[in-house]
Amino acid sequence: MEYKIAILISGNGSNMLNILDACKKREIKSKVLTVVSNNPNSKGLEKAKVFGVNCKVINSKKFKNQYDFENSISLHLKEFNINLICLAGFMKILSKNFVNKWKKKIINIHPSLLPAFKGLNTHDRAIRMNVRYSGCTVHYVNNKLDSGEILDQEVVRVLSSDNENSLKKKILMKEHKLYIKVLKKLEKLE
Ligand code: GAR
Repeated sequence: MEYKIAILISGNGSNMLNILDACKKREIKSKVLTVVSNNPNSKGLEKAKVFGVNCKVINSKKFKNQYDFENSISLHLKEFNINLICLAGFMKILSKNFVNKWKKKIINIHPSLLPAFKGLNTHDRAIRMNVRYSGCTVHYVNNKLDSGEILDQEVVRVLSSDNENSLKKKILMKEHKLYIKVLKKLEKLE
């Protein structure tokens, strides 16, 4: 199946750029129809604009509640007939209402080997815990934080010389590879 993808970002957008690139190179058949950022200052927005993809800021701070914010996202995605939402560094927790509306249509990338290190500051916590292996996970989004069905994972060896930054870089490289691998897998499924 060829998906109509929306990518949701909040920050740098390196995973977003990597997906856009894979589409351009026809590594994946699906198309990214829109990039949505909840943060008007996210660096990823500028990168997406260069790519010529539709970009939309839906500033979470401008809404009186989460319901209105998410409703605005849903309306925008429906305009494009989106059938796959890829969270790529989207740092807002989506409500049960939104997740149910888009059931099994939202996937997320997380910088740890879930179920370890759910939530924030994953790299710092991995270093502090002295884990020898970490990595990244792409999973379906469900009602519980970072707990949906796992689609795939990539492993990274953590060296004693690693710190938060070096681990972050190593994992991010694996994230780029993993997201495309999962999208290819999903395209073959349906
Ligand atoms: C990535 O490491 C991603 O896994 C993480 O934010 C970073 C975004 O980088 N996401 C989360 O922590 C979500 N809980 P990017 O903007 O360069 O793709």
